[in-house]
Amino acid sequence: MNSAMNALRFASRVSTRASAQFLAGGMNIAPCVRFAQGLQSSNISTSAQSLKAPALHELGSVDHAFTDDRIDHIAEPERRAFTYLLLSGVRFAYASTARVLVVKFVSSMSASADVLALASAEFDIGAVAPGKTITVKWRGKPVFIRHRTPAEIATEADVSLSQLRDEETDDDRTIKPEWLVVLGICTHLGCVPISGAGDFNGWFCPCHGSHYDVSGRIRKGPAPLNLEVPPYKFTGDTKILIG
Ligand code: FES
Repeated sequence: MNSAMNALRFASRVSTRASAQFLAGGMNIAPCVRFAQGLQSSNISTSAQSLKAPALHELGSVDHAFTDDRIDHIAEPERRAFTYLLLSGVRFAYASTARVLVVKFVSSMSASADVLALASAEFDIGAVAPGKTITVKWRGKPVFIRHRTPAEIATEADVSLSQLRDEETDDDRTIKPEWLVVLGICTHLGCVPISGAGDFNGWFCPCHGSHYDVSGRIRKGPAPLNLEVPPYKFTGDTKILIG
């Protein structure tokens, strides 16, 4: 009986002291920790060896790979044809509208009929006597038409180019020698010269004193160039079309 009581007391004291040392941190538990780590590593290696990594398709998908949201075009051929038809129609409408706009824009840039009528003008010169000059209006500008005499034609043909500031032969400035057609605008600063006046009996510009001969060429004064010859042609023996 006494020995039993002593054994109980010893066990109680040992357990109490062990608990106190453990709580105080003084108990050496390193062997226990090492034992636990060894146990864990052995378990992990055992699991890695025993488990094989699953393939990607074996993992499954929470969204079912969007199979429910996919549109099966093959199953709807009628809808595809309708879509193509609709898109083609819209694009054709766009192309037609663009074409109409381009045609209208380009046609708006071309001259209208009344403008074209003003661009050229026909005159009857049958009543102009030799040696006389008439002034007509073309595109808002004065145009001199002179019916030259044979003597005037011969005089102008004899002028050498070395005498001229703006070198042009009389032949280059006329279609028919007896008719001279020039713009009535002085090439100096734009005054309208006086017909049948000046040192050369052609035209004289009173603004700054330029003298033109019967071929409309500058012979004296500040004007740098001959009177301009407009585009013209004869549409009959006594009809001339300017422009
Ligand atoms: S504008 Fe004719 S000479 Fe000056």
